[in-house]
Amino acid sequence: MSTLTGVPDTESFTVGRDRATGLVAVIAIDDTTLGPALGGIRWTSYASEEAAIIECRRLGRVMSLKNALADIGYGGGKSVILASPAITDRRAALLAFGRLVARMGGAYLPAADMGTGVEDLRIVRETALDTSCHDADPSVSTAIGVHAAIAQAVRAINLSPGLQGITVLIQGAGAVGARLATLLAADGARILIADIDKRRAADVAARVSGAAIDVAETLSTPCDVFAPCAGARVIDDETARRLPARLVAGAANDVLADPGVAETLTERGITYVPDFVANAGGVIQVRALRDGWSDARLQDALRAIGQRTADILDEASGPAGATPLAVAESAAYALLGRTRPPVNTPASTPEATA
Ligand code: NAI
Repeated sequence: MSTLTGVPDTESFTVGRDRATGLVAVIAIDDTTLGPALGGIRWTSYASEEAAIIECRRLGRVMSLKNALADIGYGGGKSVILASPAITDRRAALLAFGRLVARMGGAYLPAADMGTGVEDLRIVRETALDTSCHDADPSVSTAIGVHAAIAQAVRAINLSPGLQGITVLIQGAGAVGARLATLLAADGARILIADIDKRRAADVAARVSGAAIDVAETLSTPCDVFAPCAGARVIDDETARRLPARLVAGAANDVLADPGVAETLTERGITYVPDFVANAGGVIQVRALRDGWSDARLQDALRAIGQRTADILDEASGPAGATPLAVAESAAYALLGRTRPPVNTPASTPEATA
């Protein structure tokens, strides 16, 4: 993400191992200024343990910024489970992961993320004592929030008064991407969708009368809106220089490979809605469920993501010339009682593994 050329100055992180189950996991508690660190469990493969630690810490910072702006009384954190053939019993590995979470003493509240779901959280809860969103899939609210962000952003940048006839290319036909496709299509948007699982993309495309496109062509297919809903760091400086879109807004966390990419996008006239603004619906749903909000209150809070997006884009279009990312990050860091780290300066402290 943006300000992080390397890794952020995470409050603490832990690498946990459970030899009996083959589990290797990282938990990053990024910032607890506003409350316990809420963030998902990502289960995927990594080139190395170091790569997993870096990703976990970067994603933990994204969560701190997201949760601060969403005003939900949580800090930010993240965890990753390193996918490995050594793990043969998923349930046993998740129980071991829960024991690792329990050792954090309540400082980390796990949620679902790529590679994990509500069922997994129910298992983690058996040993972790507490988890978020084990009762409902957060991707429903995440998709509603991303839809609100896109709808407001197309207006804010004068692309169109509404979504009718707008072409949206969604990368990832998973839990959020599929739901987002339905919501956008209902407003008259034309959907292009790509997924490494071709059948998944084809199914969603058929359902919304859109078109599935080849994964290799995701970043070169012309569209009005590119909505990344798959993995991290999908746009680097080179792809930003040729991305044929007017707006980037999606669910995926940590979408930009490095801070300069936001500026390259702006130079090219492409508006980037910061990931942690657009995709806050899931964490808002967590707060809603834990506090017993009415559905009307939850829907209001999700709609507010659209207004927040419009406000950020409005400020970014002002005379100061800041990118939407800089505007959003500055606001989030202010809520954390900090100033935004200068771009291109790694906000890292090479602390020992805690
Ligand atoms: P998911 O695991 O249900 O779906 C991800 C989809 O992306 C899968 O269908 C996968 O096959 C596909 N995919 C992976 N790599 C791809 C590639 N290179 N090109 C095209 N497709 C690819 O995940 P989910 O829940 O839909 O989340 C999507 C993204 O949104 C993730 O980055 C996640 O961290 C983020 N997010 C999700 C939230 C939620 O409530 N589920 C909340 C906030 C962020």
